[in-house]
Amino acid sequence: MSKAKIGYLSLMVYNNVHIMGNPQTIWFNHAKNLVETVDQRYLPFQNLIIEIGTLNEARIAITEMIVRGAPLIGVTAAYGMYLASRNYSAGEFHSEMKQAGDWLKSSRPTAVNLAFAVDEALSLISGQNTVQENIQLLFDYAENLKQREIDFSRKIGEFGLELIKSISKKKNGEPVQILTHCNAGRLACVELGTATAPMYLAHEVGIPIHVWVDETRPRNQGARLTAWELDEAGIPYTVIPDNTGGHLMQHHMVDLVIVGSDRTTLKGDVANKIGTYLKALAAADNGIPFYVALPSTTIDWKLSDGLSEIPIEQRDEREVSMMEGLLGNKVHEFRILPEKSPVANYGFDVTPARLVTGLITERGVCKADKESILKLFPEKRSDND
Ligand code: MRU
Repeated sequence: MSKAKIGYLSLMVYNNVHIMGNPQTIWFNHAKNLVETVDQRYLPFQNLIIEIGTLNEARIAITEMIVRGAPLIGVTAAYGMYLASRNYSAGEFHSEMKQAGDWLKSSRPTAVNLAFAVDEALSLISGQNTVQENIQLLFDYAENLKQREIDFSRKIGEFGLELIKSISKKKNGEPVQILTHCNAGRLACVELGTATAPMYLAHEVGIPIHVWVDETRPRNQGARLTAWELDEAGIPYTVIPDNTGGHLMQHHMVDLVIVGSDRTTLKGDVANKIGTYLKALAAADNGIPFYVALPSTTIDWKLSDGLSEIPIEQRDEREVSMMEGLLGNKVHEFRILPEKSPVANYGFDVTPARLVTGLITERGVCKADKESILKLFPEKRSDND
């Protein structure tokens, strides 16, 4: 076990624990009375488990992308609210929790699951309860949200599996060729993933598939995380540079595109990892179905026009100018640009609803438009809908 310096806080880290032993990406260690998760910055080269015991450690885990992926960011934020409550000083409980929530919300702007989890947690706190009762409520909420995300992934997998099955029927046993971008896998959720959930279930039931995995510059979530997940699961895949998908589509080497989402509006506009929009354009140009797999915790019921309303994160230039890789058994960083090159590093883009064939949610598959989404989630229909 060793101490790792992350920003100005040190987080307890223990090395090379075989995380496949633990099917979940985040859990509460009751013996140690703190949250544990996988440090995704070092995968697939090192399996490091990180211990999170305070609000600040939860926030750093999000900003430093120790945890990443919309659903996992949401669950980490829920645990962050609980950790904040149990370390609560003596001020007014609700306002202190509101401050803690705002602090967590300011960690990353695009994934709506973060604000969803903070707001839902805050809505549970009641002035009638004792502080201890509210602390227990926040713990139960974090565990409940984690279980909901697990159930959502399973349902998304089942509905997405039907899409793969229907294509497989026409392929006389040939593998269904699926392209995916970034990592919307179990590492981005708690179990099974969103975009990967139908792939895991198809593999489980013996439907032949092959996955084209976009490397997903600049942080390579595809090349490092999705490839590792599929490898571990024995699912055939090929890593491709991000600019390759269009060529493969033109040559009929892609049957289906499935990606995740960080925030989808009520109109069906989808924010996801930068580069997703270009894949949607290529899919539309080649008549290839383009599906977005997402839980309802990733739908922003208040927003409509994604291009003008969804906040797009811009991250540190070093993510573009430096590249990480394994040299011997250590992860090293290398400069890949001339010293003074100006860099722009947008983390996400928006795919307009018109380019989305359908949304795969925990309640079923629907068209990317307001009426179809509200048909699946009628309780979200507001008076003026
Ligand atoms: O910057 P990241 O790695 O958090 O971006 C993740 C993505 O864009 C995922 O596709 C999205 O969060 C869906 S995860 C199920």
